[in-house]
Amino acid sequence: MSEGLGNLRRSHMCGDLREKNIDEEVILMGWVQKRRNLGGLIFVDLRDVTGISQIVFDSDVSKESFEKADSLRSEYVIAVRGKVVERQSKNDDIPTGNIEVFAYELKILDESETPPIYIKDNDEVSEKMRLKYRFLDLRKPSMQKNLKIRHEAAKIIRNFFDENSFLEIETPVLNKPTPEGARDYLVPSRVNPGKFYALPQSPQLMKQLLMVSGMDKYYQIVKCFRDEDLRANRQPEFTQVDVEMSFVDIEDVISLNEKLIYKIFKEIKGIEIELPIKRMKYDEAMNSFGSDKPDLRFGFKINDISDVVKNSDFKVFSGAVNSGGTVRAININNHADKFSKKKISKIEKEVKTYGAKGLAWMKVTNDGIESPIAKFLSEEELENILKTLDANEGDIIFIVADSEKIVLDSLGFLRSHIAKFLDIIDEDKFEMVWITEFPLFEYDEDEDRFVAKHHPFTHPVDEDIDLLESNPHKVRAKAYDIVINGDEIGGGSIRINNAKLQQIMFKALGFSEEEAWKKFGFLLEAFKYGVPPHGGIAYGLDRLVMLLTGMKNIRDVIAFPKTQNATSLLTEAPTEITKEQLKELSIEVIKDELK
Ligand code: AMO
Ligand code: AMP
Repeated sequence: MSEGLGNLRRSHMCGDLREKNIDEEVILMGWVQKRRNLGGLIFVDLRDVTGISQIVFDSDVSKESFEKADSLRSEYVIAVRGKVVERQSKNDDIPTGNIEVFAYELKILDESETPPIYIKDNDEVSEKMRLKYRFLDLRKPSMQKNLKIRHEAAKIIRNFFDENSFLEIETPVLNKPTPEGARDYLVPSRVNPGKFYALPQSPQLMKQLLMVSGMDKYYQIVKCFRDEDLRANRQPEFTQVDVEMSFVDIEDVISLNEKLIYKIFKEIKGIEIELPIKRMKYDEAMNSFGSDKPDLRFGFKINDISDVVKNSDFKVFSGAVNSGGTVRAININNHADKFSKKKISKIEKEVKTYGAKGLAWMKVTNDGIESPIAKFLSEEELENILKTLDANEGDIIFIVADSEKIVLDSLGFLRSHIAKFLDIIDEDKFEMVWITEFPLFEYDEDEDRFVAKHHPFTHPVDEDIDLLESNPHKVRAKAYDIVINGDEIGGGSIRINNAKLQQIMFKALGFSEEEAWKKFGFLLEAFKYGVPPHGGIAYGLDRLVMLLTGMKNIRDVIAFPKTQNATSLLTEAPTEITKEQLKELSIEVIKDELK
C-alpha cells in the first residue's frame, strides 16, 4: 500500500551524504535500486538524481520498518528517516561509500511493477526497448548525466551571449518554408483550408529580419525541423543554437564564437583549447581529406598522383586522367601487416559503394613492392608514387582512379574507415577546424542547375562578385563551418544585405523574380528599407552535447528522441487521425497512394 508524504520532507539528496554528516538525522527519498535481506538486517540502495545511499533496516531498531522494508522491490519509491553512521564495509566505488543511513522510519510512497528494463548503465538491452520505456531509461545515471551536461552547455551558452549583449528572441514555429533545402514538415491550417504552415528548418529568415529591425545581436536555443533521411547524427527535430549579429564580417563572427567554444570546453571538459582555432579552406579539406568535415585526429592525407601515372601503360590510371578524372592515393604508414588480401578485398567492396570501380594497393616490403598492379607500372612510375606518398617499408598505399568526386568520396571514406579499423583514434582528443571559402553554389545533377551550397542569402566573397553571372562555379562564399572530430557542429555565413545583389543571386540560382518574391517576398520587402551588414552561425546543440558527453549516438543526448524512421516508440507518434479531424482540415488521405 502506498502512503503519503505526511510530514516527512527531504533533508538531503541520496548522493550528497559524506562522513561530515555522521550522527545527523536525515530524510531521504528516492527509488529502490536494490534490496538485500541478510537475516536481521535489510540493506537498501536508495537512488535519486544525485546518486545512491545505502540504507540499513535493523529488526532490533524498528520491527515495523524492518517488516515493511522486507516488502520493498526494485523501483519502489520510498521515504526514509534515519541517522547517518560510519559504514562498516566501505565502498570506494560510490561517493557515499563511507557512510550508511540507519533507518527508523520508512514510508512506501509508491510501488512499482517489475520494470521491463534494468535501471543500470551499459545494460545489453536493445535500443528499441530503451526508447519505448524512455522514462525508465532516463533513470540510468549515464542518461541523467547526459541531460545534466546538456543543461550545463545551454546555461553557459545563455550566459555567454547575455554577457555579450545578445538578446534571446523567440521566432514562430508555424511558418513559411525556410531556405535550408531539406524537405519541410507541414501543418495544415484549419481556418485557411488547403493552406499549410511549414515548421522552420531554421530561423534563418526571421533572424535576418531581426537584424533589419535593428535588434543588433540575437541568439536563440531553438527547435528546428527537417524531413530528411536520418543518419546516426541527425534527428527530424533537433536543437540549434542560432546566432545573428549586425555590422560584422567573417572575422568578427568567428572570433566571438571561438570564445564561446573555448568557454564550453573549459567549463564542461576542463580543457583549454588553443585559440585561434585552425582554419582550412574548403578546397584543401576536400583535396587532402576528401571531406568538408575532415577528422583531423589522424593523418592519412590524400595525395594526387595523376601527373605520375598520366602516361602509364596501366590504362585504368592513364585513362582516368586523360578523360578528365584523377588518380589519388593515401599512405597508411607502418600498418601494411594489418591488411591481408581478404581484408583488402572487403575494404574494396565498401569503397565501391562510393562509386569507385576498384581499389588498387601497394605494400612496401623489404623485397620491394607487393601489389597486383605493380606489373602494369614502370620502375619509374612505382618509384615516383612512393616518393609522392613518402612511403617506406611497412607502409601500404591505396589508390583510386576515377572522376574527382568519386575519388575524393572514396578516399575520404577510406581514411576514416581505416583509422577506425586500426583503432588509432584518440577518443580524448578534440580536433577543431573552421572550414572557410566554401563554393557559393553546387551543381545539382538531378535538377540540372546550380543550387546554393549554404542558402540563397549567403554573401559571396567580395572579389568574386563579378564572377556571379559569368562563372558561378568559381564564386566562393563568405561561409564557415566549425568541424570537431569530423562532425559538422555548426555553420554560418555573412549574408547578402543588398536587394540588388540578392536579385543577382536568385537569378544565378535560376529563380525568376516572381518566384523569388513568392518564396521570400517578406524578406525582399524588408530589404528595401536599410539593411545592416550582418551574419551569424547556428550550432547543432545535440551534436555538440554528443561530443561533450562522448556519446556516439545523438539519441543519447536527447530526452525523447525519434527513431531512424522519424517515429517515437514511446508515444507512437505519428499516428492516424480521425475522419472528423481530417474533414475539419479539408484533407483527404489517399491510402492507395501511400505505398
Ligand atoms: P545548417 O543547416 O548548417 O545551418 O544547420 C546548423 C547546424 O545544425 C545541425 N544540424 C542538425 N543536427 C541534428 N539533426 C539534424 N537533422 C541537423 N541538421 C542540421 C548541424 C549544423 O551544423 N540557418 C543556417 C545557419 C546560419 O547560416 O546561420 C543553418 O541552419 O550541426
Ligand atoms: P583489373 O585490371 O580490373 O583486374 O584491375 C586491376 C587492379 O586495379 C585491381 O586490384 C583493381 O581493384 C584495381 N582497379 C580497378 N579499377 C580501379 C580504379 N578505378 N581505381 C583504382 N584501382 C582500380
